[in-house]
Amino acid sequence: MKMFNTKAFPLGFSIIALAIADIALGIRFPDRISVPNLDPSSQPLKIAVFALGSFWRSEAAFGCIRGVVRTTAGYSGGSKSNPEYRSPGDHAESVQIEYDPRLINYRQLLEVFWSSHDSRQVFGQGPDVGPQYRSIIFTNGTEESRLAVVSKEKEQTKSKSGIVTTQIQSLGTFYPAEPEHQKFELKRNPFLLQLIGNLPEEELERSSLAARLNGYAAELCPPRIQRQIDAKINDIIKKGWPILREV
Ligand SMILES: *[C@@H]1O[C@H](CO)[C@@H](O)[C@H](O)[C@H]1NC(C)=O
Repeated sequence: MKMFNTKAFPLGFSIIALAIADIALGIRFPDRISVPNLDPSSQPLKIAVFALGSFWRSEAAFGCIRGVVRTTAGYSGGSKSNPEYRSPGDHAESVQIEYDPRLINYRQLLEVFWSSHDSRQVFGQGPDVGPQYRSIIFTNGTEESRLAVVSKEKEQTKSKSGIVTTQIQSLGTFYPAEPEHQKFELKRNPFLLQLIGNLPEEELERSSLAARLNGYAAELCPPRIQRQIDAKINDIIKKGWPILREV
């Protein structure tokens, strides 16, 4: 059972109000819009992979962070080839983050990692129990390993009752999860999907905007950003021009 599966209204009152406004104003949504694609060749993006419980939530936890360009839910940390949701083998549910190192660094990503789950819980988070929900920092190279070890020690110092269970291991193969697990929180909000123009799956998976709204839908954006997006959506509805291009 996934932790947030039963949450009926993840956006709370504001989005319900927006949906009502939508009906009242008779806003027509465009079939789709094109979001400018970030050209990876013009940006020296870096990759980080973490496991911190359900990948639905993990992807949302990083999606809204400044400097995070793209997020992907997947499997990593095990040896099974081609893991699947119902048979992850020895892998952990993970999130792959593509980030712009000019805007955020690995140390800051580690802070988001620690603050987004309870690393003292053994083999799971909340009701998600099982080795696929274990906590792992995947590192690429000695500098990242060093930063991971230092941050884990710091976390252990803060934790008086409980052992930090997080493993630190070398980044191996990351297997993207099935499409239905990508941007999971956003997909539960048809209103937001419409607002960005019902992007086809492939675009949705690569879209920075979708990554951010996935965090917003789960209410996992930093409060200031959560409010900014609220305001932007309200503004769009007021103006009757319901295309959200960026947040
Ligand atoms: C690991 O680091 C090396 C050297 O910095 C880099 O070339 C490589 O792309 C990185 N691998 C991943 C998966 O990010």
